[in-house]
Amino acid sequence: MAILNVLPFAHELTRRALRPGSVAVDATAGNGHDTVHLASTVGEDGRVYSIDVQEQAVKATRHKIDTRVPDVDVRLIHGDHAALLEHIEKEDIGQVGAVMFNLGYLPRGDHDLITTPETTLPALDAALDLLQLGGVITIVLYTGHDGGPEEADAVHGWARALPQHEYRVLSYRFTNRENNPPRLLAVEKR
Ligand SMILES: C[S@@+](CC[C@H](N)C(=O)[O-])C[C@H]1O[C@@H](n2cnc3c(N)ncnc32)[C@H](O)[C@@H]1O
Repeated sequence: MAILNVLPFAHELTRRALRPGSVAVDATAGNGHDTVHLASTVGEDGRVYSIDVQEQAVKATRHKIDTRVPDVDVRLIHGDHAALLEHIEKEDIGQVGAVMFNLGYLPRGDHDLITTPETTLPALDAALDLLQLGGVITIVLYTGHDGGPEEADAVHGWARALPQHEYRVLSYRFTNRENNPPRLLAVEKR
């Protein structure tokens, strides 16, 4: 297929923004797929911070790191991404090549524990502070669960308000697909 689905497209955008040795952040570790993608992209000379508020997600991500990318410096954090900046080494602030958000609930986990604008928006502001020039934030949004459409609206509003001379903002979605397909927003610091 010429047109990438939302998750592979988020991986492609972050791959383009990262190099071996880069610093990256997974703001919603979940089952660890995005963390493994970031870790294999930055490699042994790079560093990945990966955070999730749910113990089950931290455990699942730890297992994936240990089995797939054991030699990469991955800092796994059990906490709220609204406080992301507290967990990042000073030297990495303003030096991050990519921050990934994959919102909603943990697949095969507690579907009542969802991301919400109250913490997502502060976390997105923190992600802006982390980015280096040319760095990107990818945000995968879901609208099929209670609270999902409201969160997607809030995040779109946040992204639309970013000044165009400082950030490029992309909205990527399949407009003819049924059953609330995921959407992607991407922000690049210029
Ligand atoms: C869709 S899943 C992430 C999927 C993941 N990126 C992957 O590759 O498997 C969303 C995750 O966000 C987490 N989450 C919800 N609120 C959070 C918060 N305030 N801070 C950090 N993580 C949060 C949930 O626990 C859940 O694991």
